Amino acid sequence: MTARRLFTRRGFLRRAGASLLATSSLALTGGCLRSPPRSVGRRARFVFFTDVHARTEWDTPLAMARAAQAINAQQADFIIGGGDLITDGFQSSAATVAPRWDAYMAMHRALQGDVYSTLGNHDLVAARPEDGSTPASDPRAIYRERLGLDNTWYTFDAAGYRFFILDSIRVSDDAFKYHGYISLPQIDWLQEQLAHTARDQPLVVVSHVPLLTAFYAATGGATTAAPPNRVVTNNVAVLELFASHNLILVLQGHLHVREQLQWRDTTFITGGAVCGRWWRGAWHGTPEGFNIITLQDNHVDWQYVDYGWEARRPANA
Ligand SMILES: [Fe+2]
Repeated sequence: MTARRLFTRRGFLRRAGASLLATSSLALTGGCLRSPPRSVGRRARFVFFTDVHARTEWDTPLAMARAAQAINAQQADFIIGGGDLITDGFQSSAATVAPRWDAYMAMHRALQGDVYSTLGNHDLVAARPEDGSTPASDPRAIYRERLGLDNTWYTFDAAGYRFFILDSIRVSDDAFKYHGYISLPQIDWLQEQLAHTARDQPLVVVSHVPLLTAFYAATGGATTAAPPNRVVTNNVAVLELFASHNLILVLQGHLHVREQLQWRDTTFITGGAVCGRWWRGAWHGTPEGFNIITLQDNHVDWQYVDYGWEARRPANA
């Protein structure tokens, strides 16, 4: 659909600048056309942070400021946010979570460079309010408005890679309240996008809810199934869309652990959490942190960075 307008324009200007440069260097050879320099291949180095769960207590605004500082210190090409930017929007009124949005936006504004955001379940506002207030007619409206996005799914290109940011949440009427799910309009959109994407172009998908994870088998035993609000329930249909394309990486959040899986030619990374165990420290051995991803052609290199926060949430809170 549409990438965030601002950086689309900036990306265009950058690309336009690059072609201008290429044209001028040819012109500067004084009519003697030399062969272009050998391509060094595609390379992108970016930060993927997820599950901030912004709130105002327990010095968490300070933690977020430190996370932003540590992310900026990486001097990455760009930044991707993996969702759950705030806490408990889903079951709260807009007024209740406004200070949490303010807290997250302070971190967001502190980040240097382009930031591409992904919707998490906590980022919906008043989908199912528990305080008796009226449910929002569009629980994604505040997320879009705060982040200046036209839509909760979109694509962007960087350094020859194409990124697909997905909306993996479907509000449900059962006890789970929502399911991990890629909607049919998104499936149609992906099909349409992929029809115009070269088969060898390296692609990256970002989904808050995982498309593939070993978390439940690893923590509950090998036969433990994931509940429908923890994984994308139509993951096979989604991955099948990419079967004849070059999907090198899927970035995912939601589970707050760091995990890397290789399935066929695709690497799946679950990127821990900026808030760790919901601001209580490490969760299953994953401390508060974020990811540095380096792509070199079809190769994925991944590093999880602990930004050094020591939890200040009281045990009884
Ligand atoms: Fe989540």
